[in-house]
Amino acid sequence: MNVPLLPLAGLFLAVSVSAQAADATAVYSKGGANPAAMACATCHGAEGEGMASAGFPRLAGLSAEYMRKQLADFASGARANPIMQPIAAALSADEADAVTTMLAGKPHPQPDRVDRTALADGPGQTLALRGAWDRNIPECVACHGPSGTGVGDAFPPLAGQSAQYLASQLTAWRQGTRKNDPNDLMGHIARSLTEDEVKAVSVYFAGLTDTGAAK
Ligand code: HEC
Ligand code: HEC
Repeated sequence: MNVPLLPLAGLFLAVSVSAQAADATAVYSKGGANPAAMACATCHGAEGEGMASAGFPRLAGLSAEYMRKQLADFASGARANPIMQPIAAALSADEADAVTTMLAGKPHPQPDRVDRTALADGPGQTLALRGAWDRNIPECVACHGPSGTGVGDAFPPLAGQSAQYLASQLTAWRQGTRKNDPNDLMGHIARSLTEDEVKAVSVYFAGLTDTGAAK
C-alpha cells in the first residue's frame, strides 16, 4: 500500500508549489478567489509601478513583509482607506503571501544616492536630510535610508512614490485615519509638519526617480 502513495505525495507537492506560483500572477492581474479581492493591476499598474496621477502607490520592490503588514492593517482598520479595506479583507492569507512576494521581486527605481552629508537645497530637501530638530522632527533619511529608498521590512521607500500619494499618507496620519506605525513614529512627525512642509517634502521624494544608479 505504501508504494503507490509515494508518487502521489510527489505529485501533490508539485501541484501545490505550482498553484502557489500561479496564484501570485492570477491574483495580481485577475483578482483573488473572493470577487471583492479585485485585480491589483487595475490600480497598481501592470508591473506594480503604481498610477501617480490617481495617487495609487507603486508596489514593485516594496518589502513583502511591509506590504503584508499594510494589508493586515487595512483589514483590521488600523489603516483606514475605503478602496483598500474591502480588498485586503477579501484576500486570503495565501493570496496575500503570494502576491506580496511576487511584487517585492519586481524592478523599482534606483535614484542617485543622497545622504545626510549632501547640501540641502529648499525646504523639502532640508527636512529630508536635516529634519527640524527644534521641533523634534528627525531627518526622513534617518529611517527611510539614503535617497529614501527604504530600509528593511519596517521603513518603506519614499523615493519615486508620487507626491500625491506621499502627501495623502502624511495627511492621513495628521487626521488619525492612518495609525498603524510602531510607537506613533510617523504620527508624531506628520503632526509636527506644516501643510507647506508636507507638500515640499512629498515633492522632493517624488522627484528622486530612477537614474540607473546601483543601490
Ligand atoms: C481600485 C483600486 C485598487 C485596487 C484594485 C487595489 N489597490 Fe491597493 N491601493 C489602492 C490605493 C488607493 C491605495 C492607497 C491607500 C491609502 O491611501 O492608504 C493602495 C495601497 C496599497 C498598499 C499599501 C502600499 C504602501 O506603500 O503602504 C498595498 C500593499 C496594496 N495597496 C496592495 C494591493 C493588492 C495586493 C491588491 C490586489 C489584491 C490591490 N492593492 C488592489 C488602490 C487599489
Ligand atoms: C523614526 C523613524 C522615521 C522617521 C524619522 C521618518 N519615518 Fe516615515 N515611516 C516610518 C515607519 C516605521 C513607516 C511605516 C509605518 C507602517 O508600518 O505603516 C513610515 C512610513 C512613511 C510613509 C508612508 C509610505 C507608504 O508607502 O505608505 C511616508 C509618506 C513617510 N513615512 C514619510 C516620512 C517623511 C516625509 C519623513 C521626514 C519628515 C519621515 N517619514 C521620517 C518611520 C520614520
